Amino acid sequence: RPTSGLEFVSSRHFPPEVQGDMLINNTIGFLGTKQHQMIEDGTGFTTKHRQDLVTSSDGNFRPVDMEFAPDGSLYLVDWHNVLIGHMQHNARDPLRDHKHGRIYRITYPDRPLVEPAPVAGASTEQLLENLTLPEYRTRYRTRRELRGRDAGQVRAAIDTWIAGLDESDSHYEHHLLEALWVTWGLNSVDQDLLRRLLESEDHRVRAAAVRVLRYSGHQIEGQQELLTQAAGDSHGRVRLEAIVAASWLPEQEGLPVLSEAAKHPLDRHIAPTFNAAMAHIQGTSYMPPEQGEETVQTDLEGTDRELYELGEKIFSRDGSCETCHQPNGKGLAASGFPPLAGTDWVTGDPERLIKLVLKGMQGPLEVLGEQYPGQVPMTPFGGMLDDEEVAAVLTYVRNSFGNEADPISPETVEKVRATVQDKEGFYTPEELLNEHPME
Ligand code: HEC
Repeated sequence: RPTSGLEFVSSRHFPPEVQGDMLINNTIGFLGTKQHQMIEDGTGFTTKHRQDLVTSSDGNFRPVDMEFAPDGSLYLVDWHNVLIGHMQHNARDPLRDHKHGRIYRITYPDRPLVEPAPVAGASTEQLLENLTLPEYRTRYRTRRELRGRDAGQVRAAIDTWIAGLDESDSHYEHHLLEALWVTWGLNSVDQDLLRRLLESEDHRVRAAAVRVLRYSGHQIEGQQELLTQAAGDSHGRVRLEAIVAASWLPEQEGLPVLSEAAKHPLDRHIAPTFNAAMAHIQGTSYMPPEQGEETVQTDLEGTDRELYELGEKIFSRDGSCETCHQPNGKGLAASGFPPLAGTDWVTGDPERLIKLVLKGMQGPLEVLGEQYPGQVPMTPFGGMLDDEEVAAVLTYVRNSFGNEADPISPETVEKVRATVQDKEGFYTPEELLNEHPME
């Protein structure tokens, strides 16, 4: 829904169990503010509706902004306007109300307010102390105040402050992140601190540090190497941040970062971001290919048909073939993903195809007359799929998207797997074609 002015609950004035909840204003249809729980879910988040915090039966109720105040209460702005559309009504329509509106203050009567922290005009030492407070908005206002101060003086005060922090505090790294953000705000990023936080055990800290790296590359030595490392991180959210950061780099610098990311699972949060980044960096725009309404159609029978049906499921799993080669098998040339429809790699020698899927492939390649520079690797599936699953997915791609070729049996996969057992790393197309020349 159109929504304006989101806020996360971060205030000791409200109960502990709602901390971190997301508040969303709604100005069309449902008129009010919804409250959702945020739940970490791998690379991204899911949410669960907790309650409607505010609702109104007044048709002109337009909650458009919110913020937790220094005393921990929540302020809510009602723009109270009869007209809100910019397409439906003239901008100068006299019914547009520029004079009225309301500001509500929401409190939790059973609980005490928060004592406001000094911010405006406070000493730098006091401001740094504020950074350990639980209230996000207090820390935010504190950082804004620090931004206006002398960079050299604040940097020196930060070093002293960090030295005095308790390393066993469970929020220790969060405090360090706050310090990093202050130096970012001063346009003088502390590089040692950044590198230290990029190595944190906590993926949330690493992801936050990559975000700083994204915006401050011009100040940071070895931005590209650091991003490449982050693109290979064990946690999806860190890889996601690195992919977004890479999309802002010149093509030659960004591609190796994206290439590293492509060696890891492209889950449902990462895949569209990756594809958009690949397209953007090459100066094109990402349009997901149109999906036809193809239904499963095959003449295969018996065990071959069972393999085909299993293969279809494997093909469309999160991070599996479909993510890159697309549901219609037509690939995504801008991202370096060749088509599977009508290619001899798919319908030709089964041994070549099995080797390619077990071990992956990277290197310059021509498919259906189109050149692929080979900067993006094809995932090795040997460790992820067993013999039957490889046979199934290959039987599927050999008999879909207009392809027609013999099914592949689990026994064949087993034999080929034994011959490539000791092979390390990706195949190059050249290597595979030497072993199995194209028909
Ligand atoms: C992370 C993205 C990704 C995934 C996932 C992926 N591929 Fe690929 N695939 C590629 C890339 C990139 C190439 C080209 C590699 C090169 O240029 O050397 C490729 C090449 C191929 C080729 C040879 C070229 C062609 O288009 O005919 C086949 C066949 C193939 N993949 C099949 C599969 C199958 C089957 C799966 C699922 C089991 C799969 N791929 C999963 C990225 C991917």
